[in-house]
Amino acid sequence: MTLAPAHAVRPLRAMVLRPGLPIEAAVFPADEATTTWHFAAYAPDDTVIGVASYFLETYPDLPAKLPYRLRGMATHPTLQRRAGIGTALLRESLGLLRRQGADLVWCYARLPAVPFYAKNGFLRLDRAGVIEIQGIGPHEVWYIPLQ
Ligand SMILES: CC(C)(COP(=O)(O)OP(=O)(O)OC[C@H]1O[C@@H](n2cnc3c(N)ncnc32)[C@H](O)[C@@H]1OP(=O)(O)O)[C@@H](O)C(=O)NCCC(=O)NCCS
Repeated sequence: MTLAPAHAVRPLRAMVLRPGLPIEAAVFPADEATTTWHFAAYAPDDTVIGVASYFLETYPDLPAKLPYRLRGMATHPTLQRRAGIGTALLRESLGLLRRQGADLVWCYARLPAVPFYAKNGFLRLDRAGVIEIQGIGPHEVWYIPLQ
């Protein structure tokens, strides 16, 4: 896993999370902000096989000094739930954010991905309930304290 520029994470982000839509649909507002961190995992042939991005963003209901929102978490379709790529990427990137002083990471978790976050130490923000994100589906708020 390495830090990566936004353009390196977008093709896999688009393929997995915005299928059938133009690549522009995989451009997130603060992708190029200096406070944003993108991570990519690579196969030996340099293909990007896992991506995750973190945006400096508060969740209104979760107090924190340096909160990050996880977005665009995706493993290549042929490798999902097979090689632990998402787990490795998540753990290493959370470790780096922790060392940089981040004290909270949160995300809108798609319901099918909820077991992945639960297995990796995230907690459900029960009071947020289920949130419908138009065109994408139902989500819950999950978070992990880092400090
Ligand atoms: C969710 C995702 C990033 C996880 O990455 P991954 O590389 O597939 O996950 P891992 O191989 O590290 O899985 C670790 C464990 O998480 C859990 N898990 C992961 N994805 C799961 C899913 N879709 N359903 C149930 N459990 C899941 C399982 O316990 C899994 O271990 P197991 O397969 O031995 O049971 C990946 O499956 C993916 O890209 N899914 C589609 C896009 C998506 O939903 N992204 C998250 C948006 S919020």
